[in-house]
Amino acid sequence: MKFNHPMIRVISSGKYAPPTLITNEDLEKLVETSDEWITTRTGIKTRHKATDELTSDMAVKAALNAIERVNYDASKIDLIIMATITGDQSTPSTANFIQAKLGLVHEVMSFDINAACTGFVYGLEVAASMLQTGRFRAALVIGAETLTKVVDYTDRNTCVLFGDGAGAVIIEPSTLDRHQAYFFNAAKGDLHNTLTVVNKIKMDGKKVYQFAVDAMEQAIRKVLEDAALSPEDIDIIIPHQANERIIQSVSKSMGIPMEKFMLNLSEYGNTSAASIPLTISEYFDQNDTKNKKILLVGFGGGFTWGSAILQL
Ligand code: UT7
Repeated sequence: MKFNHPMIRVISSGKYAPPTLITNEDLEKLVETSDEWITTRTGIKTRHKATDELTSDMAVKAALNAIERVNYDASKIDLIIMATITGDQSTPSTANFIQAKLGLVHEVMSFDINAACTGFVYGLEVAASMLQTGRFRAALVIGAETLTKVVDYTDRNTCVLFGDGAGAVIIEPSTLDRHQAYFFNAAKGDLHNTLTVVNKIKMDGKKVYQFAVDAMEQAIRKVLEDAALSPEDIDIIIPHQANERIIQSVSKSMGIPMEKFMLNLSEYGNTSAASIPLTISEYFDQNDTKNKKILLVGFGGGFTWGSAILQL
């Protein structure tokens, strides 16, 4: 059966990262590691850490950054989808807290999505599909995490990787063909043990690494094929920021130059569901985004992976 690609307009994007930094030198004091090991094996130099902010507080700051960038009328937002694995509490959803903190007292459907580091790409596909029904005027899709709350600072295999942050986009339905969006999202539940959070993060880094490279390649190919585009047609690829070496492997094996990939993991580390929207916001900060085609690609616990092409 032929399906319709949702047509969406990306109105704006915003980000927030708490000011406190954890440097590689700070981590050298906690576990047996070195700046040299962390830099060469991951590309990470610092991560941000929330001290007294909740995940919803950071999400609200990213959302306000998106709203203020274009002076958006927030009363148009009637859908909030929040991707996170470190929500404020089990229930109510963190999206509900965000709705309240933004003062959106009109009728808004708001809920959380957990697809680990792929959560934002999942959330975007869900939001785009819902907008396509015609029932909603505008969606706020957010990825935000306070991973430093669940990091085990005695485990050198994981504690050097993760940080806190938030990113958000506002999207509206469009009637223009050039706003067609393309998605690929998948999960492999039998690999659930590769990355888990039961109180603290536990990860089989090597296994995740192996799956990540294949999964990213497959997700990039699938979404390009669906859109009948080639890598040269894409202005920028925004990958989940987990490890620079993973992105280098994908770049090499697919023959896509590294300059096509936008990276900021040296500053933020891995912020899970926040990493892609945070990077989208930095792309908006640094570029004229008009008519640009961006490709998003993520992978993470679950095992989950996915991609999207958005035409700005
Ligand atoms: O969002 C999805 C989440 N996760 C990921 O994307 C993670 C994917 N995996 C990775 O990024 C990499 O596998 C890691 C960065 C986690 C590890 O890098 P690696 O090159 O795969 O190292 P390794 O696990 O093979 O370990 C090599 C050595 C080991 O020592 P021995 O057994 O060879 O003596 C580790 O114990 O490096 C050691 N090691 C460290 N040494 C210094 C592991 N972590 C550290 C550390 N500092 N922080």
